[in-house]
Amino acid sequence: MSNILVTGGAGYIGSHACKALKAAGYTPVTYDNLSTGWEDAAKFGPFEQGDLTDRDRLDQIFAAYQPTAILHFAALSQVGESMRDPGMYWHNNVSGSLTLFQAAVAAGCLNVVFSSTCATYGDQDNVVLDENSAQHPINAYGASKRAIEDMLRDFQNAYGLNHVIFRYFNVAGADPDAEVGEFHQPETHLIPLILDAIDGKRDALTIFGTDYDTQDGTCIRDYVHVMDLVDAHILGLKWLEDSKGCDVFNLGTGTGFSVREVMQQAQAVTGKDVPFIEGPRRPGDCTKLVSGSDRAEADLGWTPKRSTLEHMIGDAWRWHQTGHYVK
Ligand code: UFG
Repeated sequence: MSNILVTGGAGYIGSHACKALKAAGYTPVTYDNLSTGWEDAAKFGPFEQGDLTDRDRLDQIFAAYQPTAILHFAALSQVGESMRDPGMYWHNNVSGSLTLFQAAVAAGCLNVVFSSTCATYGDQDNVVLDENSAQHPINAYGASKRAIEDMLRDFQNAYGLNHVIFRYFNVAGADPDAEVGEFHQPETHLIPLILDAIDGKRDALTIFGTDYDTQDGTCIRDYVHVMDLVDAHILGLKWLEDSKGCDVFNLGTGTGFSVREVMQQAQAVTGKDVPFIEGPRRPGDCTKLVSGSDRAEADLGWTPKRSTLEHMIGDAWRWHQTGHYVK
């Protein structure tokens, strides 16, 4: 059984990945500073608290567990926050990744699956994106992830650091068993905020902008079920085991939904109205981010199976009602 180092394994996507890794016969070793993650979520293998920028601690972890690969999820990931405090994003995401990759190379751990984002593409008026689309991020979060992609390419050329880059579209939903789920503090993501508004945990959802150039004036996103997303990571690991090298894959469904469409579906799934108000645009938001997943399908054999809005909101609602990491 090989050990896989999972940075950010106590976070939303990382914890689902740890569950999937365990089910696939790997041992996930979570490395997380708990700045946004939850120790309760790191329950599928060993947990080590530590920061990405702490080289000594990383060296200890590589020596102790001898991981064969890294799933690198740990990052700050809020678009709005990144606009207010870009320094934090360059420090944590970019310096942190640099320290991690340097430690990995020194330890001879040369396989990385990296969580990048469609936010690296920026605003590209109503096109369906693919992996060759130009990357012009409009927020510091996207810029920090693009910089890490460049770093990986350089590290592959110079040190043989094999890697798979996944550019996520909007990840949503939860483990259908509700052992883990989405919970951020503060919460900024659309679906959990809608569910909070539905069950009275907040007064109302604010729609950020109703004057976008879309059919109903609200932003369009391509939502992917977190379980489908983590399936792609297992396939990415196997791809690295079989064929050393590097590649980049978009993980989206090719179908976009507006904020109002997501609200309508949440109403249909829960049978309850979504209290909402209409507010101004949120700085850093793109009008539309949608992608196909042809390359991931062709090269990794990945197809999203659960990424309908109904399925994602249904699983998120079950999690919302049964468990939370609130302390
Ligand atoms: N939205 C609202 N009201 C809210 C929250 C969100 O109207 O209270 C809207 C946003 O404006 C956006 C959509 O709902 O149009 C989705 O917003 P999220 O905050 O859920 O997701 P983002 O698209 O901003 O960001 C997410 C991830 C990022 C990733 C990005 C790529 O958080 O890590 O997707 O689009 F980079």
